[in-house]
Amino acid sequence: MRIGVFTSGGDAPGMNACIRAVVRSSHAAGVEVWGIRRGYAGLLEEDFYVSPVHLNGQMGVRSVSNIIHRGGTILRTSRSDEFQTQAGQEKAASILNKHAIDGLIAIGGDGTFHGAVALRNVWNGRILGCPGTIDNDLFGTDYTIGFDTAINTVMTAIDKLRDTADATERLFLIEVMGRHSGYIAVDSALSSGAEQVLVPEIDSEIETVVKRLEEGRQRGKTSSMVIIAEGNQMRSGLEGLRKYIEESTPYEARVLVLGHLQRGGSPSARDRILASRLGDFAVRSILEGSDGMMAGEMNGSLTLTPLEDTWNNQKNISDASLTLLDMLAR
Ligand code: F6P
Repeated sequence: MRIGVFTSGGDAPGMNACIRAVVRSSHAAGVEVWGIRRGYAGLLEEDFYVSPVHLNGQMGVRSVSNIIHRGGTILRTSRSDEFQTQAGQEKAASILNKHAIDGLIAIGGDGTFHGAVALRNVWNGRILGCPGTIDNDLFGTDYTIGFDTAINTVMTAIDKLRDTADATERLFLIEVMGRHSGYIAVDSALSSGAEQVLVPEIDSEIETVVKRLEEGRQRGKTSSMVIIAEGNQMRSGLEGLRKYIEESTPYEARVLVLGHLQRGGSPSARDRILASRLGDFAVRSILEGSDGMMAGEMNGSLTLTPLEDTWNNQKNISDASLTLLDMLAR
């Protein structure tokens, strides 16, 4: 078997640790591994890893030296419109066959896995997915690669914000990533001691937010942190909420959108270990004949989940976490 490995969709800290594990595990099994750059877009352009040693896309054991600690991805990533078409998928299949690549390890999120399922319909090779996204919005794994680093980034930012919020007795509305999910928001709120968290999975009314802020102020709070997941459906939007708070309470309120900062940084130990385990497990599984599955870790055990289930099923936002957050923030 010749394995191709690529990263796709939003980059996540730990992707390099996963690439490293895929390459080293393949070599340990005596299997050649090729790097595909820039995800599906690069595959369509035959943009393979440029090896200083080999004359093709092959990644030698030294190609992944000294990358475990680096954020981003040495194979780069992209989102590809052409690959969304049947013609694009068929072109990708012919390119893989041309280079005798008959196994693929796709490191990415649900968009990546949608593409992998479509590719399987037109290609006879085997595909395994590794959950590489900060959103943690994939069913079949407790945590995705990059999530732990992202919530630590948010937590550190909020710790810094606390100093000025306390000094100026202000309220901060902090928007975090997560696309249509609230996992980053909830764990960031718990770890930073935020007063409230607004997530897409639960309807939030602007009046309720203000009521709880006022209750906190009556209990002597002089500043508060409200974390808002970017997918939250609050009609007012962030600026509308800020204005409403300033009109309805004595608080001054400021907005901070953390944005792509959450995608950067050196991966945490947790993410490096998760990425290493899943990259190796994906290689061993594909060599044993698995196909169309995502490698995951659930309750500490390595698991395989059909790619379609990773987006058709949903992990629930923890009610216990929300209850704990509310009680501790009083
Ligand atoms: O899926 C990861 C993610 O960071 C989401 O949390 C975010 O909404 C999206 O990617 C941003 O996409 P882009 O980097 O293409 O703007």
